[in-house]
Amino acid sequence: MDKPSLQRDSFGSRFGVIAAAAGSAIGLGNIWKFPYITGVYGGAAFIVVYLICIALIGFPLMLSEFLVGRKSQKNAIGAFKKLAPGTPWYLTGWIGMAAAFVVLSFYGVVAGWCMEYIVKAAANAFAGQSPGQIGGMFGAFISSAAKPVLWQIAFMGLTAWIVVAGIKDGIEKYSKVLMPLLLVLIIILDIRAITLPGAEKGLAFLFKPDWSKITGEAILAALGHAFFSLSLGMGTMITYGSYIHKKENLGETAVQVTLADTFIALLAGVAIFPAVFAFGIEPGAGPSLVFITLPNVFQHMPYGHIFGVLFFILLAVAALTSSISILEVVVAYFVEDLKMSRKKATLIAALIITVIGVFCSLSNGPLAEAKILGLTFMDLLMWLSDNLLLPLGGLFITLFVGWYMKKSSVAEELRSEGVKAGYFEPFIFLTKFVAPILIALVFLKGIGLL
Ligand code: PHE
Repeated sequence: MDKPSLQRDSFGSRFGVIAAAAGSAIGLGNIWKFPYITGVYGGAAFIVVYLICIALIGFPLMLSEFLVGRKSQKNAIGAFKKLAPGTPWYLTGWIGMAAAFVVLSFYGVVAGWCMEYIVKAAANAFAGQSPGQIGGMFGAFISSAAKPVLWQIAFMGLTAWIVVAGIKDGIEKYSKVLMPLLLVLIIILDIRAITLPGAEKGLAFLFKPDWSKITGEAILAALGHAFFSLSLGMGTMITYGSYIHKKENLGETAVQVTLADTFIALLAGVAIFPAVFAFGIEPGAGPSLVFITLPNVFQHMPYGHIFGVLFFILLAVAALTSSISILEVVVAYFVEDLKMSRKKATLIAALIITVIGVFCSLSNGPLAEAKILGLTFMDLLMWLSDNLLLPLGGLFITLFVGWYMKKSSVAEELRSEGVKAGYFEPFIFLTKFVAPILIALVFLKGIGLL
């Protein structure tokens, strides 16, 4: 077995591993995107399809990433160079690296919006406004030139500040505090939502499936979202996996992180839909659900602005523990393979991503007319990550573990230091056949070939 190099940082505790990996998975994807796509695709039936995707693809892919990372003790690109020297498999890592730049560029912009909305909610800015005015406020804010850019820069600064401190003293330390905070916030918001008069309708929307609503498009959206929500296909979990101690049970960790992510997405739905229905608002609002629909809901509630502040803090915290994991993908590569100091690596990576992000932000306003392939720059980056980079990265990772790696070497890693892995055979079956076929289908559909 390989000896990890002495200076390599790692997670210090079991809880730290879970907090950091769940922190990566739980993000804007859970609280901003999951509720709105659930709304768009009609509720409970979509959720059931999503849960199936999580089990059949999400879990095996997350475990595959952890395993590649921990076995190689390397970053997303270095891992493939080490486990498959002299082959083109390292290109998988490059896809992940590209995805990290793309995703964090727009992620930082949306996270910046959340920070602005903490301030807006605290200032009670939605009080007495009509739904149209609240919509106008959001449109005016994201299309302005300076303000969203400043918030995006602030958010990226915060991300870099945590990443520069390293794994144990940065990412783990903050995840251990921020994740429990997130749980408390979401529970408070859930209690408020389900005690609203008329909450049952929202709960029925979430938990009573109407199968007629399931279309091919809904299935693809569910599958694509499973990738994004679990932070898969980018090498995030390869990178984090490389910091996990050999005595940890990777299968158990992957199950716990997957469950935590799914649970929080459902709790976010429970925090949002009862309120949406209680106030008679359209659930299928799309991306503006949390920025327009919710402020509207909050302003009708007693002490709504306080719940508004809590909600947007929740979003910003969730975004932060995810963005640090994306930046770490790039920083780990810069440090290990390009031999930069951690400080320099973080600074350069954060700077490049922030600059791309500025263009994303401007593409909602001053640069809205500069379309590429008919999309604004920000929409283009979202399309690229959802339909191309993450599915492709994920596909190659499952093929690598399922077909390239020797079964004995996979088993050796999962059973390191005497850990039990009773799930081994089903895992191999999912990784070899089920996940790659399903991912290939999404990919072909996503790029319009199916
Ligand atoms: N999983 C994160 C979320 O749900 C986003 C993310 C995607 C993070 C890919 C890392 C890698 O918001």
